[in-house]
Amino acid sequence: MRIEKIAIVDFKNICDEQLVLAEGINCFVGDNGAGKTNILDAVHYLSLARSMHTITDTQSVRHGAEGFIIDGHFVCGQERHERVVCGYTKRGGKVLKRNGKEYDKLSEHVGHFPIVVVAPSDTALISDAAEERRRYINRLISQIDRTYLAALMRYNSALQERNKLLKLSPAEDMLLIYDSMLSAAADIIHLKRKEVIGRMLPLVARYYALLSEGREEVDIEYRSELHNAPLTEILLACRQKDIVNEHTTAGVHRDDMTFTIAGYPLRKYGSQGQQKSFLIALKLAEYTLLAEHTGEKPILLLDDLFDKLDMRRVAQLLKLVGGDDFGQILITDCNKHRLEHTLGVAEAEYRLFNISGGGIER
Ligand SMILES: Nc1ncnc2c1ncn2[C@@H]1O[C@H](COP(=O)(O)OP(=O)(O)OP(=O)(O)O)[C@@H](O)[C@H]1O
Ligand SMILES: [Mg+2]
Repeated sequence: MRIEKIAIVDFKNICDEQLVLAEGINCFVGDNGAGKTNILDAVHYLSLARSMHTITDTQSVRHGAEGFIIDGHFVCGQERHERVVCGYTKRGGKVLKRNGKEYDKLSEHVGHFPIVVVAPSDTALISDAAEERRRYINRLISQIDRTYLAALMRYNSALQERNKLLKLSPAEDMLLIYDSMLSAAADIIHLKRKEVIGRMLPLVARYYALLSEGREEVDIEYRSELHNAPLTEILLACRQKDIVNEHTTAGVHRDDMTFTIAGYPLRKYGSQGQQKSFLIALKLAEYTLLAEHTGEKPILLLDDLFDKLDMRRVAQLLKLVGGDDFGQILITDCNKHRLEHTLGVAEAEYRLFNISGGGIER
């Protein structure tokens, strides 16, 4: 899948711009604050109906304007043309149209135009609490398995109810009902997480080895209390503790992943470049899973390409994503000469756009 044309109006610092993208690598270069990431964010809106940053839609409207419009022409599968328009006004809210037809629910759009983003903020996956890693894996599996999302929703609502009960009046019979509801959903979640992380692992290892030219080995360990016993048993054993603490102290809402490098935790022992390489390998593994599932090559957004990477690793990355397994790629960087030089080393073909003050020039 690829974007052929995109028109952007009143989106952040972009007034009114149109661009025609190449099938392969597209590079956006310009100074800090020029508007490079804003272009990637516009593409993110077309794919997922929201910003890639944690900001409101209103904050994406250009200062002084009433709303924004992002209009994209996609080419999917065997030359099937699709048009996606995402419009937002402060008064009327957000509207998403596919081939002129408005969606009833924005969530129906998700998954049809897959993208994978690599951005500097990915480091939160390593440095932040387990919740960040759970959110990542939940989002990924939800895209490739609808039953997972349903199980997750059932689990979360049962968990909420159980916690409420623990605070108010922990009646034995009621707790048993929630225990069995939680366990049923947890089994599905646990199994799926195990399966998907298991599929990711060899891919992450392979991509990491390519990026680092085999310098070090990485691993992912999926940690869950459910590895050793079914949740019904665990909940029964934790019963008194839960009543004292007034919340559910065991379950898949406490799962985590440990990333390691040469056998040691990446968070503590990995250099910034090693951590970044790991995150890229993880995102490329995600790319491969999404591609297998949808039968479409997602669009790959590489924001701030040289962020924490040395030139060798960037060249390795460009060589990799310039190959047949990947499709259209949008890259941003603030140093045009460095980027052009490295693309030359990787022998990659590309189209270059100069960005300044929200303006785009080929
Ligand atoms: N709602 C808005 N209205 C107008 N301008 C905005 C709005 N939101 C952000 N901007 C401007 O967009 C610019 C940031 O754009 P962007 O993040 O795309 O920069 P960049 O080219 O990626 O820079 P860097 O190299 O630092 O990553 C800033 O100048 C900011 O003031
Ligand atoms: Mg940027």
